[in-house]
Amino acid sequence: MPIELFNNGTHACMMFTDLVDDEADHAIQANQFLIVDNGHGCLIDPGGNMTYNALRMAMHAHFQPNSLDYVFASHADPDIVASLNKWLIHTDCKIVVSKIWSRFVPHFCTVGTTEGRIIPIPDPGMHVKLGKSRIVAIPAHFLHSEGNFQFYDVTSKILFTGDLGASLVAHEDAAKPVENFAEHVKYMKGFHQRYMSSQKILRFWVNMVRQLDIEWIVPQHGRPFKGQEMVNTFLDWIGELPCGVDIMTQNHYQIPSA
Ligand SMILES: [Fe+2]
Ligand SMILES: [Fe+2]
Repeated sequence: MPIELFNNGTHACMMFTDLVDDEADHAIQANQFLIVDNGHGCLIDPGGNMTYNALRMAMHAHFQPNSLDYVFASHADPDIVASLNKWLIHTDCKIVVSKIWSRFVPHFCTVGTTEGRIIPIPDPGMHVKLGKSRIVAIPAHFLHSEGNFQFYDVTSKILFTGDLGASLVAHEDAAKPVENFAEHVKYMKGFHQRYMSSQKILRFWVNMVRQLDIEWIVPQHGRPFKGQEMVNTFLDWIGELPCGVDIMTQNHYQIPSA
């Protein structure tokens, strides 16, 4: 069952949390998102081949899949974009992805399907019209991918943060917004220390997003952060986290013994 994050009658945001069979395939739990505005629709981070059929069926009740305007991709990892070829073949959507990745996407698509259908996002980001609303591609480079964007929905005030804010939980828990932040840290910390590049970048990102009016931070894995107080708690924590190259030492770079 999708979770309705927002709905004012003309604009709705849905989150799908349980489409990956994380027990059978040992695949990481992942969230996919559908935004509908005045008869127009987009997916954010639709996932890989594991989720294509299930997402198509699950979104049907809310939006006709064939009418998709866009698929937004935060970066080019398999759990984000491996299904792109299917969305390109079976709908008329355009793919919105960092210009860093736009020339790599055709490598896993049927020859000719990407022609004229990829919208490369320049490094500073861009605004994309959806129905009568807008989605803003916010720069989040190196968090964790070299060309990485997050997507801010100006109507719902939800920031979809891709892997940033991700937590490693079972799919039945992913639908529940975080209630006890201190308790939740253990599901996030190791992932962020290994996947995020550096505290310097995190601080630039925190300074930027504090200028946005954010009601939810919703990551691509695990539980969302709902309400300005919880959003600020997350921003305070993430800006203080040494990670990635900050914590690497020569010990991490040794020839493995036989
Ligand atoms: Fe990723
Ligand atoms: Fe991911």
